Amino acid sequence: VQGRRHAAANPLRAQRVARRAAAPASRTATVTKAVKVADHTDARQYIDTRHHAHIHNHREYEEMYQRSIEDPDGFWREIAMKEFHWETPVPEKHHNYNFDVRKGPIFTEWFKGGKTNIAYNCLDRHVKDGYGDQDCFLFEGNDVGRDGRMTYAEVLKEVCRVANWLRSVGVKKGDSVAIYMPMVCELPIAMLACARIGAVHSVVFGGFSSDALASRIEDCKARVVITCNAVKRGTKAIDLKKIADAGCNIAKDQGFNVEHVLVYANDDAQSKADTKMTAGRDLFWQDVIPQQKDEAEVEWMDSEDTLFYLYTSGSTGKPKGVLHTTGGFMVYSATTFKYVFAFQPGDVYWCTADCGWITGHSYLTYGPLLNRATQVVFEGVPTYPNPDRCWEVIDKYQVKQFYTAPTAIRSLMRSGDDWVKKHSRTSLRVLGSVGEPINPEAWKWYHEVVGDGRCPIVDTWWQTETAGHMITPLPAAWPEKPGSASLPFFGVKPVLVDDKNNVLEGEAEGMLCIGQSWPSNIRTVYGDHERYETTYFAPFPGYYFSGDGARRDKDGYYWITGRVDDVINVSGHRIGTAEVESALVAHPQCAEAAVVGYEHPVKGQGIWAYVTLLEGVEYDDKLKKELVMSVREQIGAFAAPDVIHWAPGLPKTRSGKIMRRVLRKIASFEEDQLGDTSTLADPGVVQTLLEMRGNMD
Ligand code: WT7
Repeated sequence: VQGRRHAAANPLRAQRVARRAAAPASRTATVTKAVKVADHTDARQYIDTRHHAHIHNHREYEEMYQRSIEDPDGFWREIAMKEFHWETPVPEKHHNYNFDVRKGPIFTEWFKGGKTNIAYNCLDRHVKDGYGDQDCFLFEGNDVGRDGRMTYAEVLKEVCRVANWLRSVGVKKGDSVAIYMPMVCELPIAMLACARIGAVHSVVFGGFSSDALASRIEDCKARVVITCNAVKRGTKAIDLKKIADAGCNIAKDQGFNVEHVLVYANDDAQSKADTKMTAGRDLFWQDVIPQQKDEAEVEWMDSEDTLFYLYTSGSTGKPKGVLHTTGGFMVYSATTFKYVFAFQPGDVYWCTADCGWITGHSYLTYGPLLNRATQVVFEGVPTYPNPDRCWEVIDKYQVKQFYTAPTAIRSLMRSGDDWVKKHSRTSLRVLGSVGEPINPEAWKWYHEVVGDGRCPIVDTWWQTETAGHMITPLPAAWPEKPGSASLPFFGVKPVLVDDKNNVLEGEAEGMLCIGQSWPSNIRTVYGDHERYETTYFAPFPGYYFSGDGARRDKDGYYWITGRVDDVINVSGHRIGTAEVESALVAHPQCAEAAVVGYEHPVKGQGIWAYVTLLEGVEYDDKLKKELVMSVREQIGAFAAPDVIHWAPGLPKTRSGKIMRRVLRKIASFEEDQLGDTSTLADPGVVQTLLEMRGNMD
């Protein structure tokens, strides 16, 4: 990236990358039969889990899978009508879509004509059925001993109060509400309150900076922001309100006015008295919510009405507002949750994700409540006060399904087995993994040490854009292979494609695309339908392109090989290299920046930034810190580069394009595999970079 400009969007870039990834295809037919190989588990070993699973073997799966692909309309309508409340039933003809840019605009419709409300399905339905006294949220605070619980009836009442307050400040169906909160129960409650009245929530992860918050508020025009004064994470206290204020001010400077800020006082982290409030704009949750009526009318939504926007990074440009709608998201998140976690109503489930990411939407706020789960909401971090916090909490609440990210597994694994073995963990039935590829070593530790070999691992591959699990094992239904997400979920048709648009059959490696619409596929990029089409549908006409590469083995199992675009996955957080680069070049002394990912033992990938300075500027540690600070300020601490590599020049082709392949090899210490560098404008640059790397600390 040169100056402040982003590299121009190039949808075909991925295809070029394919040349690297694609292996020759064999001509055997695609099969999804059960495997008999050495390095896999035996589904029969999971006696307890099998007892609760909804699919017991590969044959049962295959039957349902075939029907879901051949008759998607009938398959999903049956589930929709059987498992959910529809105020207006789903008509027989309800599904239509186009994934082919050559045939016209891309669009998707599911359950069209049906009317429902997802918050009603999460809460009212269960209370009406007599489960009002069941625990809905088990709150576990950052500090040991700070905890609390809320029943379904209590959560419903609180959701209604917040819904009434939102209405009182003029929020209507279709209006955006930004939510910038830590993991307290009030975060999913705020989301459900929006859904109840048809407002569109846009949750911004609490780790994002004020700049990032401001651009998201502006993009979706959120007049109302719900936040929290402060939060403790481990030993750190974070003054969230201060960041939220700065975000609102930045938006204001750019001409967008936030009218109302609702502040949940997290008194454990900061008192109300210590929280700076802006008169006329800010109100404390505790001052206005309790006096609201605890019943609120439901807004019946058309299935295709918008439920939320969630911003996510791509390889170029600013983050995209991924838009999901009501009915498809509801049916798909709930159905995947039920099957993938062998879930039975009333089970205690725990997902460590934050609601600021899609996992927190589909598998914390919505999927579990739609299935009447009792769920742990954890404010803290897995390693505080000790690395056994997770195992302690699992025993405390008798958690049956535990869902976390490989980065957490790897970091806990490094603390040693003794921390795990101090706790019984006998309640566990299924262990889930999400967000990044799980390396076989971490997989085996999770399976053998955490699960004592009794619990299947569900390695779930999916994305913000897919909103629900796409390729995933079903517990105890077929053998698992460590490191493989295994087989597609119902309704999902994975397709591997090479750079020449050839569909690869049988054993093959290529670009991972999806061949037909499923209920919760991304509907559009908010405010930019053209970008939606270019990013996801133009690269391989007829298919949704995921941005990931994958290999299919002889048993039909899928192995995700990682992103093929310029997106880095750090601790399961998706970071666009272009965003980090533009944050670096925003520094007045930075001339040019190029960012690549490199293998990191705990985070999966780390961020390696090559930086060129303006003429005459000296390289020093102070400047290094300022550059890292620039990224923290513009994106957030989680995107801070791990390595700043001073570069007198960057390897470019004669047409001026940075050769990232070369930069990746240098960052991975694989300079013996640089490949062809004869097209470089100045091949000497590579040698200089290697020398500079040698001098780094
Ligand atoms: C990207 C999506 C999935 C929800 C949380 C992240 C990577 C995700 C896996 C997995 C290998 C995975 C992919 C994907 N990814 N799960 N099980 N195995 N890679 O959502 O921020 O939209 O990121 O995460 O690269 O494209 P996201």
